[in-house]
Amino acid sequence: MNAEGRARLNRTPEWLALGKHREELGQTHLRQLFEEDPERGTAYTLRVGDLHIDYSKHLVTDETLTLLRELAAATGVAELREAMFRGEKINTTEGRAVLHTALRAPAGAVVEVDGEDVVPGVHAVLDKMASFSERIRSGEWTGSTGAPLTNIVNIGIGGSDLGPAMAYEALRPFTDRGLTVRFVSNVDGADLHEAVRDLDPARTLFIVASKTFTTIETITNAESARAWLVDGLGGDEAAVARHFVALSTNAEKVTAFGIDPANMFEFWDWVGGRYSFDSAIGLSLMIAIGPDRFRELLAGFRLMDEHFRTAPPEENAPLLLGLLGIWYGAFHDAQSHAVLPYSHYLSRFTAYLQQLDMESNGKSVDRDGRPVDWQTGPVVWGTPGTNGQHAYYQLIHQGTKVIPADFIGFARPVAELPPRLAAQHDLLMANFFAQTQALAFGKTADEVRAEGVAEELVPHKTFRGNHPTTTVLATELTPSVIGQLIALYEHKVFVQGAVWNIDSFDQWGVELGKVLAKRVEPALAEGADVPGLDASTRNLVGVYRSLRGR
Ligand code: F6P
Repeated sequence: MNAEGRARLNRTPEWLALGKHREELGQTHLRQLFEEDPERGTAYTLRVGDLHIDYSKHLVTDETLTLLRELAAATGVAELREAMFRGEKINTTEGRAVLHTALRAPAGAVVEVDGEDVVPGVHAVLDKMASFSERIRSGEWTGSTGAPLTNIVNIGIGGSDLGPAMAYEALRPFTDRGLTVRFVSNVDGADLHEAVRDLDPARTLFIVASKTFTTIETITNAESARAWLVDGLGGDEAAVARHFVALSTNAEKVTAFGIDPANMFEFWDWVGGRYSFDSAIGLSLMIAIGPDRFRELLAGFRLMDEHFRTAPPEENAPLLLGLLGIWYGAFHDAQSHAVLPYSHYLSRFTAYLQQLDMESNGKSVDRDGRPVDWQTGPVVWGTPGTNGQHAYYQLIHQGTKVIPADFIGFARPVAELPPRLAAQHDLLMANFFAQTQALAFGKTADEVRAEGVAEELVPHKTFRGNHPTTTVLATELTPSVIGQLIALYEHKVFVQGAVWNIDSFDQWGVELGKVLAKRVEPALAEGADVPGLDASTRNLVGVYRSLRGR
């Protein structure tokens, strides 16, 4: 349907029905919803693969959920989902298919782009990655001096960094502890400096990860890394061939950089940067955890893909989580979404989700280019519990904002923890359960008074409660669970973009800053005149130059 023919989202009967329903619900409290339905704590749960998902502490009733699913049906979420899985070019502003799901399709599946089955190519690259990983892990692939390469440095940014960096942290107990694995992303020279300052070049492999191989931060760092390596190896330029590999879609630029195309691991333009983690971009992770564990990770992704594609709407976890986010953004005025993992190993998890969610759904025009007049993607933020409890949870509990939050926890501590440290896990998880309880049910003024609190302190010690949370509980943090979790969020983001009628797969908003940085750089170094520079920036550049003594 063309732009004129399609009703604006917030004028559809389904949207208006949700607005009316929201008014009827008013300030209905979770206390009341739980009192009215003693089964709520078990009824409002889903089991998907290894994930137990509890959504009972959300500000919804059966009617809310029905209305939200009707909105999804009316906005064609299922149709767009099928178009994505089929390889149609649903990234319309870039004219690209969106096929990260093909990266974890089983061998033998058929997924076509422009009439060509892409699955054999996916598996050929996976096999090449596996064989290279094994050669590095076993020491068979050596550096130019004959030493095994035990230091792995991934150079990439955004989607070419965050996925493997996050998963490397998450899966540390599964990694080869004899390897040193580091991730360099920032063009601030301090990042590369700190990553290599204690490394032996003779034992160091650089993985240059860049879909386009034109990203200035990555190429600049890669050039500096090459200089560090060649200097450290006595000026041996030929060493680059043994110490550098590339992950990219751009063979021409890789070759121009000086990396042998035989040492390039390919992926394709139908893999978006922030969706590329289980393409060749995962090479550093595969070296760290080994090919078998990497395949377990892919199986976890696949499990969630299958679930998203086949589970009925009532049991479809990504659909549900996506719709809940829409509910809060549109009808509760929520501006942000907290992701709070109760696992130290998930320290980079929220950072990963920030790109996934905010680069995908940070849009303000619809697919037809018209301004939207409804909320789109939220600000995603959070750090692992319990640290956040002693920092910003105060605002979630007693501040003025609606902040839906995901709590992610595990029944078992990782196997390698010594008994004394493993015993701390119950305390960690007691906090996990206590927080969602406190957020949902709060503490009434009467309950505070009953504790004998002085009347003037009662308002300060009262907790309103009614703060919505999702709890995701799994047995333990494994490669498959990481895959399941990431795919859950990928598809959640997809659902939201589909309902909001935005292109979740482009990122034009990043471009302007890149162009302006290129224009300003000569002014910093050489004092060149930049035509059209605004008065504020011109002055700041002048101050910068004088502070640098230029
Ligand atoms: O930040 C913009 C962006 O294009 C991301 O989408 C991407 O993940 C990142 O830059 C890195 O791009 P590349 O892999 O091409 O270096």
